[in-house]
Amino acid sequence: MTATGDQRVHREVVSFVRRSARMNPSQAKAWQRWSPSHVVPVQTRETSTSVAPQPVPDWDEVFGRHAPIIVEIGSGQGDSLVPMAAARPDCNVVAFEVFEPAVASTLSKMARHEPPVDNVRLVVADGAQGLAHLFHPGQVAELWTFFADPWHKARHHKRRLVSDDLAATVVSRLVPGGRWFLATDWQDYAEWMRATLDEAPGLVNAHADSGGWAPRLAARPVTKYERRGLAAGRAIHDLEYVVAPEAGPR
Ligand SMILES: C[S@@+](CC[C@H](N)C(=O)[O-])C[C@H]1O[C@@H](n2cnc3c(N)ncnc32)[C@H](O)[C@@H]1O
Repeated sequence: MTATGDQRVHREVVSFVRRSARMNPSQAKAWQRWSPSHVVPVQTRETSTSVAPQPVPDWDEVFGRHAPIIVEIGSGQGDSLVPMAAARPDCNVVAFEVFEPAVASTLSKMARHEPPVDNVRLVVADGAQGLAHLFHPGQVAELWTFFADPWHKARHHKRRLVSDDLAATVVSRLVPGGRWFLATDWQDYAEWMRATLDEAPGLVNAHADSGGWAPRLAARPVTKYERRGLAAGRAIHDLEYVVAPEAGPR
């Protein structure tokens, strides 16, 4: 949102609807126990989920080690995040999720995982803005966006997470050769992603030679969103893009 001179506040176009942030008792307990160490506070603008331009966090200090950075936007309850981060112990994973109770559930899953998952930090904020403001150019090795839009937004294209603007941010924040993995269960949204990202300067469709759709990412577990889509007869589409080595100015 943007405050104007007369103090009115205009909504920014974002890809999510903020729901009530009431936590159940087990989420509240997990939040209290784990958020001080695993949720990274960021400076916001007028809304609590916005991300202000600010000094880039020292991610090595946040994680207590240097490692390649993976970002997830829209991690939900962590159903793919937790097992996928556990399978990549040599990477530091920064996950953006705007819904605080879902972050609390994720923290609880990380703690209950065997062994506990400690290579994830969460940011309760818009991941599109976070990717732009919280990382240096070329600092991110990989990006995950799985079923990140909760509805397909046939008439709300502007509210889709995948956009020309996000593609430009990805090209600037990912390292040349870095990979962006996406999945959706909405056919028209999948086609929109293809149309937008196939044309995005600096991005290359990793499967352009074999029809353009990626094979199902083996590391991606089946979450309730995928199950729901399949149960409703929808096909799941995976996509994979690579930041071109010669991608533009950073
Ligand atoms: C349908 S859920 C999918 C969660 C998870 N990726 C999975 O597959 O289980 C989408 C989540 O993305 C979050 N989300 C959508 N747009 C976002 C954004 N721009 N920044 C951060 N979170 C976002 C929503 O709040 C929601 O929890």
